[in-house]
Amino acid sequence: MGLAKINPTHTKAWQKLQAHFNTIKNTHMSDLFAQDKSRANTFSIQWEDFYLDFSKNRITSETFKLLLDLAKEVKLKEAIECYFRGNKINETESKAVLHTALRTTKNKEIVVDGKDIVPEINQTKQRIETLTNAVINGQKTGYTGKPFTTIVNIGIGGSDLGPAMVVDALDFYANHLNIYFVNNIDSDHLSKIINDIDPETTLFVIVSKTFTTQETLCNANTLKKWFLKSAPQTAIQDHFVAVSANIKQAKLFGINDSKIFPIWDWVGGRFSLWSAAGLTISLAIGYDNFNKLLLGANCMDTHFKTQSFDKNIPVVLAIISIWYNNFFNTESEAVIPYTQSLKQFIPFLQQVSMESNGKCVDRNQNSVQYQTGNIIWGGVGTNSQHAFFQLIYQGTKLIPADFIAFSQSLDGNREHQKKLISNFIAQTEALLYGKTQNTNFPFKVFEGNKPTNSILIKQLNPESLGKLIAMYEHKVFVQGVIWNIFSFDQYGVELGKKLANNVLNTINNSTPEAIHNDATTNILQQFLMDFN
Ligand code: F6P
Repeated sequence: MGLAKINPTHTKAWQKLQAHFNTIKNTHMSDLFAQDKSRANTFSIQWEDFYLDFSKNRITSETFKLLLDLAKEVKLKEAIECYFRGNKINETESKAVLHTALRTTKNKEIVVDGKDIVPEINQTKQRIETLTNAVINGQKTGYTGKPFTTIVNIGIGGSDLGPAMVVDALDFYANHLNIYFVNNIDSDHLSKIINDIDPETTLFVIVSKTFTTQETLCNANTLKKWFLKSAPQTAIQDHFVAVSANIKQAKLFGINDSKIFPIWDWVGGRFSLWSAAGLTISLAIGYDNFNKLLLGANCMDTHFKTQSFDKNIPVVLAIISIWYNNFFNTESEAVIPYTQSLKQFIPFLQQVSMESNGKCVDRNQNSVQYQTGNIIWGGVGTNSQHAFFQLIYQGTKLIPADFIAFSQSLDGNREHQKKLISNFIAQTEALLYGKTQNTNFPFKVFEGNKPTNSILIKQLNPESLGKLIAMYEHKVFVQGVIWNIFSFDQYGVELGKKLANNVLNTINNSTPEAIHNDATTNILQQFLMDFN
């Protein structure tokens, strides 16, 4: 059984939302607060160490009820069950979507294609733990007997963004290992890393589900060649491990079976940090912390699976997002974490959300006649206040924003923390009320009425980060269900990959005329002139 295939715009709730939108579209949120003293309590959720305030949105109780009705009408409850049960909801690729199984704490069987996947997950976790411990305590050494000091993760997209974001975010929990991420095919970036590292003490982790990704293979081969300039061929086994679903290609690269960690068909690249693709996370912060990250995500999974929709954080965030995207016709959503630690959260979230929901064909194979995936962008606070906030305040576009903050700093500096959180709080209030004093100087008028969600979390730690990531994963899932699209394939990016290879062939053969578009031929000729 797959997901229902219901055009959301044909539901009763959608029709009612449309009519309702026309009546409230010009309402100012300040009036909603003035009219309803319990608004802040009605539209907030306290869950474990998370507090979500969604009262600063252009919604009334009626809006919220209709959005919840929409979720029911498109059979969201059933969709969630299919998702966790392992039904092949990635229908276009005939795959289950089970990154949630990677963080389950129960040993209850989860069957995919007639096979219980839990034993293999546990076995792989065990291998991650063993390698992590051996590297951290220096038991596993490089080919000259020196302990490893450096890890280089080679991967791109989901094989890079998640691990890189988590390693950066949880830097406070890091051990002595130096961690590098090689992702881009840009050799200038790679050269800088090569200058920093020592072949005798570096462990390379090649992460590629397909083991065919051009950037990753090119970088891995360059690093292997560089490594072999000083090390013997046999040292490859000590210094290179692979994480892949393509065991054959990983072996062809020169890595033995025992150094290959599996990922499976049912783990999408952008959801793979919970698998062995997160090996570098485990190495950076220790296996116990890696496991805590998984436990945090599992906690959010349980909340998402069991909580009624009106108190369900991912569901609430998703339906509010739909409200703006499909009724106010907003095009983007900003995400503003008030911590430098989450500076890599935006690119990570961009892949999770935009690679999933950037789709224009619905589950009935029809072109969608409504908006789907939003543009996700943002940056850390307070820095963003001094950069792009002007546009959110006084620009012509309506940009709903998620504000994320952690109550406690990690270093215990209370003075900085009070200032940081004051900004986090003040911004959403200023965006709500604006400033409309009578003035002959219109440039100073802020209309306010700018929607925000505030997500306040007690402290940034592996568990809370796991919860936060899983929260957004599930939000994206809910949006895809409502939009009646398939969120778990990414055929769009495949075309670009194929064309890049065609162009590379023409560069290698110096035959720009083989390209059939004049503008492209001109660019290529210009490049060949400069390059050669
Ligand atoms: O560019 C698309 C993509 O397939 C992503 O979905 C994926 O995370 C990334 O490439 C890397 O793929 P792989 O892990 O197979 O190298």
